Amino acid sequence: MSDRVYIVEVGPRDGLQNEKTPISVADRIAFVEALIGAGLHTVEVGAFVSPKAIPQMVGSAEVLRGVSHHVNCELPVLVPNEKGYEASQAAGAKLIAVFAAASESFSRANINCSIAESIDRFKPVLARAKADGVRVRGYISTVLGCPYEGEIKPQAVVDVAKVLWELGCYEISLGDTIGVGTPLKARHLLRAVAGHVPMPKLAMHFHDTYGQALANLYAGMEEGCRVIDSAAGGLGGCPYAPGATGNVATEDVVYMLEGMGIATGVDMPKLVTATNVVSGLIGRPPVSRVAAALNAKMRAGK
Ligand code: HMG
Ligand code: MG
Repeated sequence: MSDRVYIVEVGPRDGLQNEKTPISVADRIAFVEALIGAGLHTVEVGAFVSPKAIPQMVGSAEVLRGVSHHVNCELPVLVPNEKGYEASQAAGAKLIAVFAAASESFSRANINCSIAESIDRFKPVLARAKADGVRVRGYISTVLGCPYEGEIKPQAVVDVAKVLWELGCYEISLGDTIGVGTPLKARHLLRAVAGHVPMPKLAMHFHDTYGQALANLYAGMEEGCRVIDSAAGGLGGCPYAPGATGNVATEDVVYMLEGMGIATGVDMPKLVTATNVVSGLIGRPPVSRVAAALNAKMRAGK
């Protein structure tokens, strides 16, 4: 399995969108810069969503403008509708992500519309993005379980993935929003979706609520999936996914991949430093096991 894996760092967006402590634009820019400095080339920097829904993402335009001088980096931002698209373009976004769900209840809670209505909102966004030369990623939430409906059938995920792919999303990221998946379910899901969207165009976006995310990623990699979304320090969560914890930690993913002989290009000490700074700001130690282990080692002077 020693080939290339692409990491999409979502800490500055997914990681911070659920935090109670407000993080200033300057600190968010510094966090993104530190992640890029640690060797992460795709960093999701913010979201052009309703400030009433997610006040933490206010200032995303300034964050994007503040970091957009990096020529070799991709800096995706979330966009739920045309209004968000226009704001993203005014800020210079070259890569955006639309976000749908595999469950009706989560779609309603998160973006206040049905799955079909969300697709209708994305259609003009995708058409305008195509005309503007902007690439669009497509997220699907609740792929392995929904906080309101429980189990989600793979077919429900396939149905949405097919539509997003046909509409022109270049990559579909499968979100285990509440981190309830287990490896065989993850594998089964990837197999089902890969019947309609090529495996190299699928990404795994697994939250780690039940401690299964690394095992699920490994199962997905065995199926051939090579794109992993993760958040520095294991930050993350969605206000509309009650009880869910953060994304799988980037440190833990990097440690696993490097241990498997898969080079990530990520400088672990720099990544842990970036995590420690943001942990200090939110007043909580990182949940990443690797970051905790390396911090303990450092404190012991080893
Ligand atoms: P709505 O209330 O149905 O929208 O919200 P609306 O069109 O009726 O507009 C209502 C108000 O919002 C209006 O303002 C609009 O101008 C404003 P008012 O007149 O009341 O002052 N508005 C906007 N403002 C800024 N940017 C916009 C925008 N659109 C409307 N783009 C809407 C629908 C989608 C906007 C809202 O529900 C929303 O913003 N939701 C965001 C939810 C969100 O960001 N969730 C977290 C990200 S998804 C996630 O974490 C999952 C993921 O990580 C994968 C996984 O883990 O599963 C990606
Ligand atoms: Mg997420």
